[in-house]
Amino acid sequence: MVGQLRTHGELRTDTVTRAFATVPREAFAPGAPLEQVYNRDDVVITKRDENGLAVSSVSAPRIQAIMLEQADIRPGMRVLEIGSGGYNAALIAELVGPEGEVTTVDIDPFVVDRATQYLAEAGYPQVRVLLVDAEGGVPEHAPFDRIIVTAGAWDIPPAWTEQLAEDGVLVVPLRLRGLTRSIALVRERGHLVSCGYELCGFVPIQGAGANAERLVLLQSEDIALRVDGDQIVDADGLRNALTLPRVARQSGVEVGGFEPFDDLDLFLATALDAFGLLVAKPAAIEAGLVERSTRMGAKTALEGGSFAYRASQATSEDRTSFEFVVYGHGPDADRIANEYVELIREWDRLHRHGPGARIEVFPTATPHAEIPDGRLIEKRHTRVLISWPHLTSS
Ligand SMILES: C[S@@+](CC[C@H](N)C(=O)[O-])C[C@H]1O[C@@H](n2cnc3c(N)ncnc32)[C@H](O)[C@@H]1O
Repeated sequence: MVGQLRTHGELRTDTVTRAFATVPREAFAPGAPLEQVYNRDDVVITKRDENGLAVSSVSAPRIQAIMLEQADIRPGMRVLEIGSGGYNAALIAELVGPEGEVTTVDIDPFVVDRATQYLAEAGYPQVRVLLVDAEGGVPEHAPFDRIIVTAGAWDIPPAWTEQLAEDGVLVVPLRLRGLTRSIALVRERGHLVSCGYELCGFVPIQGAGANAERLVLLQSEDIALRVDGDQIVDADGLRNALTLPRVARQSGVEVGGFEPFDDLDLFLATALDAFGLLVAKPAAIEAGLVERSTRMGAKTALEGGSFAYRASQATSEDRTSFEFVVYGHGPDADRIANEYVELIREWDRLHRHGPGARIEVFPTATPHAEIPDGRLIEKRHTRVLISWPHLTSS
């Protein structure tokens, strides 16, 4: 597992590598097959809700490695982990060493009991495991040099910023218009600024900070749109749009091999005024109603009763290269599909090989006049600004 994490570039430093090579992962997933426990991409689900959805897990090693590298934890630091499983807290304990301090919190007593027991048995009794809704942080043990959130966060509550040391780093998988990115944030003149972000997926945060996403059903339960809670959606118009003939537009933009293009999704989510994820059951795809897309849903532009989404078409026989194709539905299908294609081309020209997005988090009370230009996503406690520095040479 460690070798694979190194090969894939997820483990980059010797210190984090050493921690992974030291902590026995199976001690935190008793009963799970070793091939699963030590597969770099496998999550071990430890609890599901009444609908069968995962609510707690020992996260995939790949994600844990990426986030611990982002966090840059050093000996002697005080670290807060939000969302417990035991394993990640043990890795952090290795990184901070005997002079450091690790606090891990979970909202679920089952998880807290489990993590407490396994940490003690694996030789990490010094890790403090607390039953807490992390919305309020853990003021009695603050400040923290690092705060690592291991559940999909909808927002950044004031407690996290307040309890972060002046030169601290907050690593948080933040949901932005349905997309999740693990963002490393540092303080800069009264707000938080990203110093990097990575693609990831997490079980949603529960409690006071629970996610405000909703699912708008477009055709029985076969086709639906997942949107942020604050987005106004013309559900009847969109249902009608599905019954009209669609348009298809080739973008001329190809991707292939192992080049990631998740930044295109983030770019579209920030460039478009209204954005959602179109999810469809296999029956609807086989019936030709919508095109096959990624598991997380097709990235969809919304405008009144029209919408357009992106899929891809293989351009080589061995299916290693693809062209983006946009499908438009509704009275404005043509225009919205063309605009979508233009955005794909803009990303290709200006951002594909660029530095990526700059993500800034301002408290809600910050006046608009003090916030630079960019897409502003309004949350309950914060205003999240996403801007795209250009490549100057193009
Ligand atoms: C992916 S698991 C954590 C994995 C863990 N860090 C590990 O070692 O792999 C996410 C956890 O977040 C917890 N959680 C969700 N909402 C929370 C909240 N508001 N406060 C504290 N914990 C929360 C869940 O109960 C769940 O156990």
